[in-house]
Amino acid sequence: MQIYLAPMEGITGHVYRRVYSKIYKGVDKYFTPFIATNQTFKMKNREKREIDPKYNEGMNVIPQLLTNNAQQFVWYAREIQKLGYKEVNLNAGCPSGTVVAKRKGSGMLSDLDIFDEFLDEVFTTMGNEMDISIKTRIGISDFSEIEDIINLYNKYPIKELTIHPRTRDDFYKNKVSFEAFELANQLARKDLPICFNGDIKTVEDAINVQQKYQNVKSIMLGRGILANPNLPEQIVEKKVNLSSTEYYIPEISKLEELAEGVFQGYLEEFTGEKDAVNRMKEFWIYLANPLMELNGMKKALKAITKSKDKKSYEVANKEMFRLLRENKN
Ligand SMILES: Cc1cc2nc3c(=O)[nH]c(=O)nc-3n(C[C@H](O)[C@H](O)[C@H](O)COP(=O)(O)O)c2cc1C
Repeated sequence: MQIYLAPMEGITGHVYRRVYSKIYKGVDKYFTPFIATNQTFKMKNREKREIDPKYNEGMNVIPQLLTNNAQQFVWYAREIQKLGYKEVNLNAGCPSGTVVAKRKGSGMLSDLDIFDEFLDEVFTTMGNEMDISIKTRIGISDFSEIEDIINLYNKYPIKELTIHPRTRDDFYKNKVSFEAFELANQLARKDLPICFNGDIKTVEDAINVQQKYQNVKSIMLGRGILANPNLPEQIVEKKVNLSSTEYYIPEISKLEELAEGVFQGYLEEFTGEKDAVNRMKEFWIYLANPLMELNGMKKALKAITKSKDKKSYEVANKEMFRLLRENKN
Protein backbone atom coordinates (compact mmCIF):
# COMPACT_ATOMS: atom_id res chain seq x y z
CA MET A 1 0.00 0.00 0.00
CA GLN A 2 1.47 3.34 -1.07
CA ILE A 3 0.98 6.29 1.26
CA TYR A 4 0.63 9.86 -0.01
CA LEU A 5 0.70 13.18 1.82
CA ALA A 6 -2.41 15.13 0.80
CA PRO A 7 -2.09 18.59 -0.68
CA MET A 8 -3.16 21.13 1.93
CA GLU A 9 -3.04 24.78 0.98
CA GLY A 10 -1.25 26.84 3.64
CA ILE A 11 0.01 23.75 5.47
CA THR A 12 1.80 21.06 3.46
CA GLY A 13 3.85 23.49 1.37
CA HIS A 14 7.54 23.02 0.64
CA VAL A 15 8.60 24.06 4.15
CA TYR A 16 6.48 21.41 5.89
CA ARG A 17 7.29 18.74 3.30
CA ARG A 18 11.04 19.31 3.45
CA VAL A 19 11.25 19.18 7.24
CA TYR A 20 8.74 16.35 7.56
CA SER A 21 10.47 14.11 5.00
CA LYS A 22 13.81 14.40 6.81
CA ILE A 23 12.32 13.20 10.10
CA TYR A 24 9.60 10.72 9.24
CA LYS A 25 9.37 7.63 7.07
CA GLY A 26 6.46 6.06 5.25
CA VAL A 27 5.28 8.67 2.73
CA ASP A 28 5.78 7.55 -0.87
CA LYS A 29 4.47 10.68 -2.62
CA TYR A 30 4.03 14.29 -1.55
CA PHE A 31 1.39 16.36 -3.36
CA THR A 32 1.89 20.12 -3.41
CA PRO A 33 -1.01 22.36 -2.43
CA PHE A 34 -2.72 23.64 -5.56
CA ILE A 35 -1.05 26.13 -7.85
CA ALA A 36 -3.80 28.20 -9.47
CA THR A 37 -2.99 28.88 -13.12
CA ASN A 38 -3.61 32.29 -14.64
CA GLN A 39 -3.74 33.87 -18.07
CA THR A 40 -0.40 35.64 -17.73
CA PHE A 41 1.35 32.29 -18.24
CA LYS A 42 3.79 33.33 -15.57
CA MET A 43 4.36 31.67 -12.23
CA LYS A 44 4.62 33.73 -9.09
CA ASN A 45 7.86 33.46 -7.12
CA ARG A 46 6.00 31.71 -4.32
CA GLU A 47 4.73 29.10 -6.79
CA LYS A 48 8.17 28.68 -8.31
CA ARG A 49 9.60 27.97 -4.86
CA GLU A 50 6.86 25.43 -4.19
CA ILE A 51 8.10 23.23 -7.04
CA ASP A 52 11.76 24.28 -7.18
CA PRO A 53 13.71 20.98 -7.10
CA LYS A 54 16.16 22.41 -4.59
CA TYR A 55 13.33 22.81 -2.05
CA ASN A 56 11.97 19.34 -2.80
CA GLU A 57 15.08 17.20 -2.65
CA GLY A 58 14.82 13.56 -1.69
CA MET A 59 11.03 13.43 -2.05
CA ASN A 60 8.72 12.15 -4.74
CA VAL A 61 6.73 15.35 -5.27
CA ILE A 62 3.66 15.72 -7.47
CA PRO A 63 2.70 19.32 -8.26
CA GLN A 64 -1.04 20.01 -8.29
CA LEU A 65 -2.82 22.49 -10.57
CA LEU A 66 -6.13 24.24 -10.05
CA THR A 67 -7.62 25.44 -13.31
CA ASN A 68 -10.51 25.02 -15.73
CA ASN A 69 -8.52 26.26 -18.69
CA ALA A 70 -6.92 23.54 -20.79
CA GLN A 71 -4.33 25.82 -22.42
CA GLN A 72 -3.21 27.07 -19.05
CA PHE A 73 -3.07 23.53 -17.69
CA VAL A 74 -0.86 22.43 -20.57
CA TRP A 75 1.47 25.44 -20.24
CA TYR A 76 1.92 24.97 -16.49
CA ALA A 77 2.30 21.18 -16.83
CA ARG A 78 5.07 21.67 -19.37
CA GLU A 79 6.84 24.20 -17.16
CA ILE A 80 6.60 21.68 -14.33
CA GLN A 81 7.95 18.96 -16.57
CA LYS A 82 10.95 21.12 -17.51
CA LEU A 83 11.93 21.01 -13.85
CA GLY A 84 12.10 17.23 -13.99
CA TYR A 85 8.63 16.23 -12.77
CA LYS A 86 6.98 13.29 -14.51
CA GLU A 87 3.46 13.68 -13.12
CA VAL A 88 1.08 16.56 -12.56
CA ASN A 89 -2.18 16.39 -10.62
CA LEU A 90 -5.46 18.16 -11.40
CA ASN A 91 -7.56 19.46 -8.51
CA ALA A 92 -11.22 18.52 -9.01
CA GLY A 93 -12.04 18.59 -5.33
CA CYS A 94 -11.55 22.03 -3.80
CA PRO A 95 -14.93 23.05 -2.28
CA SER A 96 -14.16 26.73 -1.58
CA GLY A 97 -16.95 29.10 -2.63
CA THR A 98 -14.76 31.41 -4.71
CA VAL A 99 -13.09 28.47 -6.47
CA VAL A 100 -16.37 26.64 -7.20
CA ALA A 101 -18.01 29.85 -8.47
CA LYS A 102 -15.36 29.93 -11.21
CA ARG A 103 -16.13 26.27 -11.98
CA LYS A 104 -12.74 25.16 -10.73
CA GLY A 105 -11.88 22.49 -8.15
CA SER A 106 -15.02 20.51 -7.32
CA GLY A 107 -16.90 23.15 -9.37
CA MET A 108 -15.68 21.26 -12.45
CA LEU A 109 -18.20 18.57 -11.56
CA SER A 110 -21.11 20.98 -11.95
CA ASP A 111 -21.02 20.79 -15.76
CA LEU A 112 -19.63 17.49 -16.96
CA ASP A 113 -19.83 18.45 -20.65
CA ILE A 114 -17.55 21.41 -20.10
CA PHE A 115 -15.28 19.27 -17.91
CA ASP A 116 -15.20 16.68 -20.71
CA GLU A 117 -14.11 19.34 -23.22
CA PHE A 118 -11.36 20.42 -20.83
CA LEU A 119 -10.07 16.87 -20.33
CA ASP A 120 -10.31 16.13 -24.04
CA GLU A 121 -8.17 19.15 -24.91
CA VAL A 122 -5.65 18.41 -22.17
CA PHE A 123 -5.20 14.73 -23.03
CA THR A 124 -5.25 15.30 -26.80
CA THR A 125 -2.64 18.07 -26.56
CA MET A 126 -0.37 16.31 -24.11
CA GLY A 127 -0.60 12.73 -25.40
CA ASN A 128 2.03 10.73 -23.54
CA GLU A 129 4.15 13.76 -22.69
CA MET A 130 3.64 13.37 -18.97
CA ASP A 131 1.49 11.52 -16.45
CA ILE A 132 -1.70 13.28 -15.44
CA SER A 133 -3.49 12.24 -12.26
CA ILE A 134 -6.68 13.69 -10.80
CA LYS A 135 -7.91 14.25 -7.25
CA THR A 136 -11.67 14.45 -7.14
CA ARG A 137 -14.81 14.61 -5.07
CA ILE A 138 -17.75 12.65 -6.45
CA GLY A 139 -20.69 14.99 -6.22
CA ILE A 140 -21.80 18.56 -5.77
CA SER A 141 -24.68 18.33 -3.31
CA ASP A 142 -25.35 14.59 -3.42
CA PHE A 143 -23.91 11.47 -4.99
CA SER A 144 -26.53 11.08 -7.73
CA GLU A 145 -24.04 11.83 -10.52
CA ILE A 146 -21.33 9.39 -9.53
CA GLU A 147 -21.90 7.23 -12.57
CA ASP A 148 -21.59 10.14 -15.00
CA ILE A 149 -18.53 11.47 -13.19
CA ILE A 150 -16.72 8.13 -13.21
CA ASN A 151 -17.76 7.40 -16.80
CA LEU A 152 -16.15 10.70 -17.74
CA TYR A 153 -12.90 9.79 -16.03
CA ASN A 154 -13.05 6.33 -17.62
CA LYS A 155 -12.65 7.97 -21.05
CA TYR A 156 -9.16 9.27 -20.34
CA PRO A 157 -5.75 7.69 -19.68
CA ILE A 158 -5.55 9.08 -16.15
CA LYS A 159 -2.45 7.90 -14.31
CA GLU A 160 -4.29 7.65 -10.99
CA LEU A 161 -7.63 8.84 -9.66
CA THR A 162 -7.71 9.89 -6.02
CA ILE A 163 -11.25 9.82 -4.73
CA HIS A 164 -12.31 11.85 -1.71
CA PRO A 165 -15.82 10.51 -1.16
CA ARG A 166 -17.49 13.67 0.03
CA THR A 167 -19.67 16.03 -1.95
CA ARG A 168 -18.67 19.63 -2.54
CA ASP A 169 -21.37 20.74 -0.11
CA ASP A 170 -19.90 18.54 2.62
CA PHE A 171 -16.74 20.69 2.60
CA TYR A 172 -14.77 18.81 5.27
CA LYS A 173 -17.81 18.10 7.47
CA ASN A 174 -19.79 14.88 7.77
CA LYS A 175 -18.21 11.49 7.36
CA VAL A 176 -16.68 10.21 4.15
CA SER A 177 -19.15 7.98 2.31
CA PHE A 178 -17.83 4.44 1.95
CA GLU A 179 -20.98 3.61 0.03
CA ALA A 180 -20.26 6.30 -2.56
CA PHE A 181 -16.60 5.29 -2.75
CA GLU A 182 -17.56 1.67 -3.27
CA LEU A 183 -19.84 2.56 -6.15
CA ALA A 184 -17.23 4.82 -7.77
CA ASN A 185 -14.60 2.14 -7.33
CA GLN A 186 -16.84 -0.45 -8.97
CA LEU A 187 -17.67 1.84 -11.88
CA ALA A 188 -14.06 2.81 -12.55
CA ARG A 189 -12.25 1.13 -15.43
CA LYS A 190 -10.39 -1.87 -14.06
CA ASP A 191 -7.02 -0.55 -15.24
CA LEU A 192 -7.52 2.88 -13.66
CA PRO A 193 -5.55 3.00 -10.40
CA ILE A 194 -7.67 4.34 -7.54
CA CYS A 195 -6.38 6.06 -4.43
CA PHE A 196 -8.59 6.50 -1.35
CA ASN A 197 -8.59 9.81 0.49
CA GLY A 198 -10.51 11.00 3.51
CA ASP A 199 -10.57 10.60 7.28
CA ILE A 200 -7.78 8.06 7.63
CA LYS A 201 -6.61 8.91 11.11
CA THR A 202 -5.45 5.60 12.55
CA VAL A 203 -3.68 2.42 11.52
CA GLU A 204 -7.02 0.69 11.81
CA ASP A 205 -8.64 3.14 9.35
CA ALA A 206 -5.90 2.35 6.83
CA ILE A 207 -6.25 -1.41 7.29
CA ASN A 208 -10.02 -1.08 6.90
CA VAL A 209 -9.61 0.57 3.47
CA GLN A 210 -7.00 -1.98 2.46
CA GLN A 211 -9.23 -4.90 3.41
CA LYS A 212 -12.42 -3.46 1.94
CA TYR A 213 -10.97 -2.47 -1.43
CA GLN A 214 -8.37 -4.96 -2.59
CA ASN A 215 -7.76 -3.08 -5.84
CA VAL A 216 -6.90 0.16 -4.02
CA LYS A 217 -3.13 0.30 -3.82
CA SER A 218 -2.70 3.79 -2.38
CA ILE A 219 -4.12 5.98 0.33
CA MET A 220 -3.75 9.72 0.74
CA LEU A 221 -3.55 11.16 4.25
CA GLY A 222 -4.04 14.79 5.21
CA ARG A 223 -5.28 15.70 8.65
CA GLY A 224 -4.29 12.26 9.96
CA ILE A 225 -0.63 13.10 9.33
CA LEU A 226 -0.96 16.63 10.67
CA ALA A 227 -2.38 15.21 13.91
CA ASN A 228 0.03 12.30 14.09
CA PRO A 229 3.11 12.69 11.91
CA ASN A 230 4.16 9.13 12.87
CA LEU A 231 1.03 7.72 11.21
CA PRO A 232 2.53 6.63 7.83
CA GLU A 233 5.32 4.76 9.59
CA GLN A 234 2.83 3.16 11.96
CA ILE A 235 0.68 2.09 9.02
CA VAL A 236 3.67 0.57 7.23
CA GLU A 237 4.73 -1.27 10.36
CA LYS A 238 1.15 -1.86 11.57
CA LYS A 239 2.61 -0.74 14.87
CA VAL A 240 0.06 1.13 16.89
CA ASN A 241 -3.53 0.08 16.95
CA LEU A 242 -5.64 3.04 17.84
CA SER A 243 -9.02 1.41 17.70
CA SER A 244 -9.81 2.65 21.19
CA THR A 245 -10.95 6.15 21.99
CA GLU A 246 -7.75 6.70 23.92
CA TYR A 247 -5.65 9.62 22.82
CA TYR A 248 -2.25 9.12 21.29
CA ILE A 249 0.58 11.62 21.63
CA PRO A 250 3.09 11.35 18.79
CA GLU A 251 6.78 10.73 19.53
CA ILE A 252 7.94 13.89 21.30
CA SER A 253 11.56 14.24 20.17
CA LYS A 254 10.61 13.96 16.51
CA LEU A 255 7.67 16.29 17.01
CA GLU A 256 10.00 18.86 18.54
CA GLU A 257 12.28 18.59 15.55
CA LEU A 258 9.30 19.00 13.22
CA ALA A 259 7.82 22.01 15.04
CA GLU A 260 11.21 23.70 15.31
CA GLY A 261 12.21 22.96 11.71
CA VAL A 262 8.90 24.10 10.26
CA PHE A 263 8.92 27.30 12.33
CA GLN A 264 12.50 28.12 11.24
CA GLY A 265 11.51 27.36 7.66
CA TYR A 266 8.56 29.75 7.87
CA LEU A 267 10.76 32.46 9.42
CA GLU A 268 13.01 32.18 6.38
CA GLU A 269 10.09 31.95 3.93
CA PHE A 270 8.15 34.99 5.10
CA THR A 271 9.36 38.54 5.56
CA GLY A 272 7.51 39.13 8.84
CA GLU A 273 7.69 36.83 11.86
CA LYS A 274 3.94 37.26 12.30
CA ASP A 275 3.23 35.21 9.16
CA ALA A 276 5.48 32.44 10.47
CA VAL A 277 3.70 32.50 13.83
CA ASN A 278 0.30 32.39 12.14
CA ARG A 279 1.30 29.35 10.12
CA MET A 280 2.39 27.60 13.31
CA LYS A 281 -1.07 28.23 14.79
CA GLU A 282 -2.53 26.07 12.01
CA PHE A 283 0.17 23.47 12.63
CA TRP A 284 -0.80 23.21 16.30
CA ILE A 285 -4.56 23.33 15.77
CA TYR A 286 -4.36 20.14 13.69
CA LEU A 287 -1.96 18.49 16.12
CA ALA A 288 -3.94 19.36 19.20
CA ASN A 289 -7.31 18.47 17.69
CA PRO A 290 -7.42 14.82 18.87
CA LEU A 291 -5.94 15.79 22.24
CA MET A 292 -8.48 18.36 23.37
CA GLU A 293 -9.63 16.12 26.23
CA LEU A 294 -6.20 16.32 27.85
CA ASN A 295 -6.13 18.39 30.99
CA GLY A 296 -4.49 21.71 30.14
CA MET A 297 -4.64 21.28 26.34
CA LYS A 298 -7.26 23.96 25.73
CA LYS A 299 -5.15 26.47 27.63
CA ALA A 300 -1.91 25.43 25.95
CA LEU A 301 -3.45 25.71 22.49
CA LYS A 302 -5.02 29.04 23.32
CA ALA A 303 -1.61 30.41 24.32
CA ILE A 304 -0.29 29.39 20.91
CA THR A 305 -3.23 30.79 18.95
CA LYS A 306 -3.01 34.06 20.88
CA SER A 307 0.71 34.51 20.40
CA LYS A 308 1.53 37.61 18.44
CA ASP A 309 5.25 37.35 17.83
CA LYS A 310 8.20 34.96 17.82
CA LYS A 311 8.88 35.44 21.51
CA SER A 312 5.36 34.73 22.77
CA TYR A 313 5.02 31.82 20.34
CA GLU A 314 8.22 30.24 21.62
CA VAL A 315 7.01 30.50 25.23
CA ALA A 316 3.66 28.91 24.28
CA ASN A 317 5.41 26.23 22.22
CA LYS A 318 7.59 25.33 25.19
CA GLU A 319 4.59 25.03 27.46
CA MET A 320 2.83 22.82 24.88
CA PHE A 321 5.75 20.42 24.86
CA ARG A 322 5.86 20.39 28.66
CA LEU A 323 2.21 19.33 28.65
CA LEU A 324 2.72 16.68 25.96
CA ARG A 325 5.74 15.23 27.78
CA GLU A 326 3.83 15.10 31.04
CA ASN A 327 1.01 13.13 29.41
CA LYS A 328 2.94 10.97 26.95
CA ASN A 329 1.39 7.52 26.85
C1 LIG B 1 -6.76 23.49 5.11
C2 LIG B 1 -6.92 22.54 3.96
C3 LIG B 1 -6.30 22.81 2.75
C4 LIG B 1 -6.47 21.94 1.65
N1 LIG B 1 -5.85 22.23 0.46
C5 LIG B 1 -6.00 21.37 -0.61
C6 LIG B 1 -5.33 21.60 -1.85
O1 LIG B 1 -4.57 22.56 -2.03
N2 LIG B 1 -5.56 20.71 -2.85
C7 LIG B 1 -6.39 19.62 -2.71
O2 LIG B 1 -6.56 18.84 -3.63
N3 LIG B 1 -7.01 19.38 -1.53
C8 LIG B 1 -6.82 20.21 -0.49
N4 LIG B 1 -7.41 19.92 0.71
C9 LIG B 1 -8.12 18.63 0.85
C10 LIG B 1 -7.17 17.55 1.38
O3 LIG B 1 -6.14 17.28 0.44
C11 LIG B 1 -7.93 16.22 1.65
O4 LIG B 1 -8.59 15.84 0.49
C12 LIG B 1 -8.95 16.37 2.78
O5 LIG B 1 -8.39 17.03 3.90
C13 LIG B 1 -9.48 15.00 3.21
O6 LIG B 1 -8.43 14.16 3.63
P1 LIG B 1 -8.06 13.96 5.19
O7 LIG B 1 -9.32 13.55 5.89
O8 LIG B 1 -7.00 12.88 5.17
O9 LIG B 1 -7.54 15.26 5.70
C14 LIG B 1 -7.27 20.77 1.80
C15 LIG B 1 -7.88 20.51 3.02
C16 LIG B 1 -7.72 21.37 4.10
C17 LIG B 1 -8.40 21.04 5.41
